[in-house]
Amino acid sequence: MAKKSTKKTTSRPAAVNSKRAKSKEAEILEDLPKKEVPTADPVEPAVEEVASEVSVESAAPEEIYTTPRKSVAFIGSECYPFVKTGGLGDVMYALPKALVKQNCDVRVILPRYKCIPWEYQEKMVYRGAFDMDLCADGSRYYVGIMEYVWDGVVYDFIDNEEFFGWGNPYTDLVQDIPKYCYFAKAALAALNYMDWIPDIIHCHDWQAALVPVYLRTQFENTALSSAKTILTIHNLRFQGVYNIPTIRYWSGLPDYVFDLGALKSGYNDANMMKGGLAYANVITTVSQTYAGEIQTPFYGDGLDGHLRYHSGKLRGIVNGIDYDIWNPSTDARLYENYDISTVLDKKKENKRKLQEELGLFQDDQKFVIGLISRLTNQKGLDLVNAILPNIMDGNTQFVVLGTGDQMYENSFRYYEGAYKGNVCSNIMYDETRAHRIYAGADALLVPSLFEPCGLTQLIAMHYGTVPIVRETGGLKDTVIPYNMFSNTGNGFTFDRYEAGLLLDAINRAKDLYFNSRWCWDEVVQRDMDKVLSWENSAKQYKELYLDLAR
Ligand code: ADP
Ligand code: GLC
Repeated sequence: MAKKSTKKTTSRPAAVNSKRAKSKEAEILEDLPKKEVPTADPVEPAVEEVASEVSVESAAPEEIYTTPRKSVAFIGSECYPFVKTGGLGDVMYALPKALVKQNCDVRVILPRYKCIPWEYQEKMVYRGAFDMDLCADGSRYYVGIMEYVWDGVVYDFIDNEEFFGWGNPYTDLVQDIPKYCYFAKAALAALNYMDWIPDIIHCHDWQAALVPVYLRTQFENTALSSAKTILTIHNLRFQGVYNIPTIRYWSGLPDYVFDLGALKSGYNDANMMKGGLAYANVITTVSQTYAGEIQTPFYGDGLDGHLRYHSGKLRGIVNGIDYDIWNPSTDARLYENYDISTVLDKKKENKRKLQEELGLFQDDQKFVIGLISRLTNQKGLDLVNAILPNIMDGNTQFVVLGTGDQMYENSFRYYEGAYKGNVCSNIMYDETRAHRIYAGADALLVPSLFEPCGLTQLIAMHYGTVPIVRETGGLKDTVIPYNMFSNTGNGFTFDRYEAGLLLDAINRAKDLYFNSRWCWDEVVQRDMDKVLSWENSAKQYKELYLDLAR
């Protein structure tokens, strides 16, 4: 049964409850045989707090549901609009919102980074605080909980100046390993403290991968251990790997989790993602193709064998996009709003205004190719660099928006200078500009080396912008290649990671655009008509939750 948690709270019921739960747990722990398990109790309320006035029930929408209610705690390192560096931020925002519509009670646990804009910080309500033991030497750290409710979702921010009070969310592993050991344990301790025992704990990427490990070790005798865990892989490239002594120290986890079946990797390394995959009840990733790919050496980043071993509990569920944020007919950031019936004219107007804003030659007959991306080698930028001069034929313009590796930033700056008026390199992170490029470009390039799902091709299609993608991961699952004989499909694709094949795909797109415009226009309209919302995927996650909690 779903847990309807916080009523309108008076003074510190959560603390009282968790203390009660704790003393029982403490007894159980004492009775345990001396296994290398839980040292001190992770949850020790140390501060008298005034609980928030926030009510979870008040946030739930009034709808008739067809499946039973389930409670889910989302744990991850970023979430739009508080903090976003890529698609994980989009998913952490949109999927909980979509799950509320599937009769789920969702709490999202996030770090309270200093960089979260003040407009959100000031709305957070203090929910309580306690001290938690973390490290192998018993060092204790403050855990504050700040709460914010929005669109039916409760956001609980873990507050700790030492870990989150400075810099960007991600810096380097020396900083990030302690930070996310702390975060994983603090997230569970906060749930315990709030006495909110979810049916499912849904963790995202390596930053939350220790959650299932903590749950089945240091929290195994707490009420929380009834919860089932899911670990979703958004990007297997990042795994949280460091030497065993460091991770053992910071996590305070027992020695037996540092074996080859769980965290240990290679001779003396610990891999947080690997441990999470071993301990989670279910592993998901963000497309079916990527779920298969990561079981091969090329895409598996050293974990392909581990994933093959756990393949029985691995599945792919493709991402969607949030139609409230990504909707060309209401998007306030666009110069001109449009829908499927007006796209052909209005896209031209958006294109001209975009060209003007970016200092490009203003001509709506030019074929404008966009690229919106983190600038890393994951995104196929070596191919783009190799062929860019070949596509600059006087009728084509190229607009890139992104930040990342210096090498790519500089090469795009170079091309802007070399093709003044036809290439524009926006080396920056800018949401508004992203929306305007999605609306004003004719095609969007996503030639990734690997792509777990990819959201930019989905957003592009929804904005009537035709994707040109490599057939990998979620790109393969979401873009149906254009077929010139049947005049079907959503975009232009190529398979092997070769510059010549990317050039060929772009040329096929240009050929259709310049020589068979009516067919091109049909692709545009077909793309806008494609269902890309979160609804279907949220239903699949809900099914998974029901199966797991059964
Ligand atoms: P990844 O998560 O690998 O970076 P995705 O395609 O899943 O790739 O998601 C990228 C998200 O980040 C999209 O919402 C995209 O619009 C956004 N994005 C990427 N780079 C920028 C940028 N420079 N400015 C604004 N938004 C960006
Ligand atoms: C990752 C992947 C991207 C995916 C996103 C959200 O950052 O690189 O392909 O769309 O996560 O799941």
